[in-house]
Order: sequence, then structure tokens, then C-alpha cells
Amino acid sequence: MNISKSVFSLILITILIPPSYQDPKDESCLTNLFNSFQDPNNNLRNWTKPSFSNPCSDFNSNLLGATCNNGRIYKLSLQNLSLYGAISPYISNCTNLQSLDISNNFITGPIPDTIQNLVNLAVLNLSENHLSGPIPTSLALCFYLNVIDVHSNDLNGTIPPQLGSLVRLSSFDVSNNKLSGVIPASLENRTGNLARFNVSSFVGNKDLYGYPLGPMKSSKGLSILAIVGIGLGSGLLSLVISFTVVCVWLRAAEHKTAVAEQQGKISLPDY
Ligand SMILES: *[C@@H]1O[C@H](CO)[C@@H](O)[C@H](O)[C@H]1NC(C)=O
Ligand SMILES: *[C@@H]1O[C@H](CO)[C@@H](O)[C@H](O)[C@H]1NC(C)=O
Ligand SMILES: *[C@@H]1O[C@H](CO)[C@@H](O)[C@H](O)[C@H]1NC(C)=O
Ligand SMILES: *[C@@H]1O[C@H](CO)[C@@H](O)[C@H](O)[C@H]1NC(C)=O
Ligand SMILES: *[C@@H]1O[C@H](CO)[C@@H](O)[C@H](O)[C@H]1NC(C)=O
Ligand SMILES: *[C@@H]1O[C@H](CO)[C@@H](O)[C@H](O)[C@H]1NC(C)=O
Ligand SMILES: *[C@@H]1O[C@H](CO)[C@@H](O)[C@H](O)[C@H]1NC(C)=O
Repeated sequence: MNISKSVFSLILITILIPPSYQDPKDESCLTNLFNSFQDPNNNLRNWTKPSFSNPCSDFNSNLLGATCNNGRIYKLSLQNLSLYGAISPYISNCTNLQSLDISNNFITGPIPDTIQNLVNLAVLNLSENHLSGPIPTSLALCFYLNVIDVHSNDLNGTIPPQLGSLVRLSSFDVSNNKLSGVIPASLENRTGNLARFNVSSFVGNKDLYGYPLGPMKSSKGLSILAIVGIGLGSGLLSLVISFTVVCVWLRAAEHKTAVAEQQGKISLPDY
């Protein structure tokens, strides 16, 4: 009885596990990604349409850098492949993606906002590229994120405070970008005396300030000094000018008096 039951469940499981079948979302994701990348070293040579026919027929994909789980792409490891081009917004069609690593390439353009649809994403490593534009605020919607590593890019704008709400975030590195503004309190949240993320996560951004970095940058401090200097300088200048005016006026008055005195002398009666 028990045996036939377990045999039955085994048959049921076998039927339920999707056989070698290509998920249309994954296909869209990979095709668009392949088209948005430039691959001078031809590392992705087997990322062509025929190989797409079934990237997840096995537990492992036959595509370089792609790993499957349950018939879906769940990991893309494309680090150090000399890839150029941009990240296609269709990356969001890889809805089962848990780990995305495109680090150490020459990728340009923005981090696509559509990345927010990767609701299973736990690891995001886009470090050491030439990505520009902002860190998308919507990244905070990827609830399972453990790792955000975007160090050494050209990202600008401020760090979205919403990222501080990612409760699983254990690794965060935005160092060596062009970020500005104050480091959100939500990311510097301290446990006892320890910062949530230390100075290493934030260094190398010229206009970023606040704990655990220093206060507002010296360039800003200097410009405040300059403003004070200009204020004091112009005050002093107007003082000098009014002093000179008064002096000239006094001298003129003195001269007038002297002339008058002289004239008086002349007009004195002769004895
Ligand atoms: C694609 O390339 C990878 C790595 O070079 C290789 O392991 C895989 O077998 C190739 N797949 C096909 C379909 O050629
Ligand atoms: C990147 O790949 C090149 C070969 O393509 C290799 O020489 C280099 O050591 C790799 N760099 C890293 C950091 O893995
Ligand atoms: C695929 O991604 C595009 C661009 O983000 C989106 O418009 C489209 O709805 C997605 N398709 C599916 C099936 O998720
Ligand atoms: C991200 O990728 C870079 C370069 O490949 C690597 O050095 C770094 O350790 C990775 N970050 C994490 C958190 O694994
Ligand atoms: C970020 O850089 C882009 C050009 O890459 C520029 O258009 C934009 O104004 C910059 N944004 C900020 C906040 O500096
Ligand atoms: C710091 O963390 C605590 C609990 O983890 C939370 O209640 C508090 O709101 C956080 N403070 C900030 C500034 O995010
Ligand atoms: C920052 O923390 C990381 C681990 O999270 C550690 O490896 C690194 O040495 C720390 N850096 C500093 C300057 O404390």
C-alpha cells in the first residue's frame, strides 16, 4: 500500500517536473542580453539562437556563464569576459534569477530600472564596469538582496535611503563612483558602536559625505570660507572707500578753510 503510494507520487513528481522546455521569458531575457552586449573576444559564441533552443535541458545550462535550476536560469556569471555594451532592460524577464554577476567588464549605460522585477535576486555584482546614471531606488523592491556590489563604476546621484530597508543586506559596496550627497542614516545604522557598513563601502566618491566618511567635503568647506572671505573683503573695501571719500572731503574742506583764512588774511585791514 505504502510502496504503491510512493511509486505513485514518484510518477506524479516526474510528470510535474517540467521536461526539457524553454521558458519564453528566459529566452527573451537571454536573447536581448546577448544583443545588447558587444563581445569582441567571442566569449558568448554559443549564446546564439540555436543554443537557446534549450539552455536548461540539463541541470546545467549549455550556455557559458548560465546556470539552471528547475528548468529556469537562476544564475548568470559573466565576470571578466571583456564585454562591452549595455545591460538590456529585458534582464527582468529572467524572473527566476537569484545571482547576477557581470563584474569586471566594460559595460556602459545605466543600471536598468526593470531590475526591480527580479524579485528573487539575492546577489547583484556589477562592479568594475563603466555604468553611469543613478543607483535605482527601485532596487529596494528586491527584498532578498544580500549583496549589492557596484564599486568602481561612474554612477552618480545620491544613495537611495530606501536601500536601508533591505533587511538581508550583508554586503554593500558603492566605493569608487561619482556619488554625491549625504550617506543615508538607514545604511549607517549602528548596532552598539559598529556601523552597519564601514568606510570601505563608501570611499572614492568625491562628493559623498557623512558617517562613516567625514563631514561635508573640504571643497564645500573651502567655498563657505570663500563666501565669508568675499563678504569680509567687500565689507573692508566699502569701508576703505568711504574712509577715502571722507578723507578727500575733509581735505577739500581744510583747503577751503585755508583759502578762506588766506583770503581773510588778505582782507585784514592794513595798519
Ligand atoms: C558553450 O560553451 C561552454 C563553455 O565554453 C561549454 O561548456 C558548452 O558546452 C557550450 N555549449 C554548446 C551548446 O556548445
Ligand atoms: C580576466 O581574464 C584574463 C584573461 O581573459 C586574465 O588574464 C585575468 O587574470 C582575469 N582577471 C581576473 C581579475 O580574473
Ligand atoms: C520582458 O521585459 C520587458 C522589458 O522590461 C517587459 O516590457 C515585458 O513585459 C517582459 N516580459 C515578460 C514576459 O516578463
Ligand atoms: C564582485 O566582483 C568583483 C570582481 O569580479 C569581486 O572582486 C568581488 O569580490 C565581488 N563582490 C562580492 C561581494 O562577491
Ligand atoms: C549624472 O550623469 C549624467 C551623465 O552621465 C548627467 O546627465 C546627470 O545630470 C548626472 N546626475 C547628477 C545627479 O549629477
Ligand atoms: C535602525 O535599526 C533599527 C532596528 O534594526 C530600526 O528600528 C531603526 O528604525 C533603524 N534606524 C534607522 C535610522 O534606519
Ligand atoms: C570593513 O568591513 C569589511 C567586512 O565587512 C572588512 O573586510 C574591512 O576590513 C573593513 N574595513 C575597514 C576600513 O574597517
